[in-house]
Amino acid sequence: MTFLMVASAGNFYQDVDINWGDQRAKILNAGQDLTLSLDKFSGSGFQSKNEFLFGRFDMQLKLVPGNSAGTVTTFYLSSQETQHDEIDFEFLGNVSGQPYTVHTNVYSQGNGNKEQQFRLWFDPSTSFHTYSVVWNTKRIIFLVDNIPIRVFTNNEAIGVPYPKSQPMRVYCSLWNADEWATQGGRIKTDWTKAPFIASYRNFNANGCVSGASSQSSCATKTGDPLNNESWQTQTLNASDRNRLRWVQQKYMIYNYCTDVQRFPQGLSPECKRSRF
Ligand SMILES: *[C@@H]1O[C@H](CO)[C@@H](O)[C@H](O)[C@H]1NC(C)=O
Repeated sequence: MTFLMVASAGNFYQDVDINWGDQRAKILNAGQDLTLSLDKFSGSGFQSKNEFLFGRFDMQLKLVPGNSAGTVTTFYLSSQETQHDEIDFEFLGNVSGQPYTVHTNVYSQGNGNKEQQFRLWFDPSTSFHTYSVVWNTKRIIFLVDNIPIRVFTNNEAIGVPYPKSQPMRVYCSLWNADEWATQGGRIKTDWTKAPFIASYRNFNANGCVSGASSQSSCATKTGDPLNNESWQTQTLNASDRNRLRWVQQKYMIYNYCTDVQRFPQGLSPECKRSRF
């Protein structure tokens, strides 16, 4: 398999396929905007045309407004193998006036159990905000409006599997998960408010694309001014670390690394290494 570095400048017609929900997913404004909707019969979703092995992925989202209880809006990367890798951003809706939960997770070779959940410092349903995943050989960084909220470090050296060999596609969806999503499943989706709508904009993928090209390096420059290769070595500087600490102290509501009740046999080894 060979990889070619590409930068895509955000046209949904060029970059994605609608893979679920038929006309519930709509590409609008000459490819600039995409909306997903959910009704009693189905949700909807789309996937990137390209598969990537490492990269930086940005998406702007405006989540379901008002009573979004029971709904889950997603932006994630996933491979297709059975022992699959996955990097997740999921937004769990709530009743009007109550906060969304941002759920993050990383799967390596079929194993997840790396959840961290956050509140946001703004209402994600009133305007677009940028959610990003940086995925390189050393770490995975989750960002919200360019503020790092989570870093998942490659800890293969201490036996923690890390996603690094299965190409992944970007997937987005809006679906009903009222058996578990909101307040532990106690609050159900109010179908009188359907259709529920989430909006997507400015999808940017800078990464190594899996394909039949003869170019064998993902470090190939395309000459595109949008092509920012710094994701390959991206790490946190002092101010990023301060902002990460701020988010983790004030907005993190769940961390698998502190859940001793759930993991009575012991926390995963990376939990001892990092405060994050
Ligand atoms: C919804 O709001 C309640 C009350 O503020 C909160 O406990 C819960 O975590 C929120 N999010 C979800 C997804 O239930």
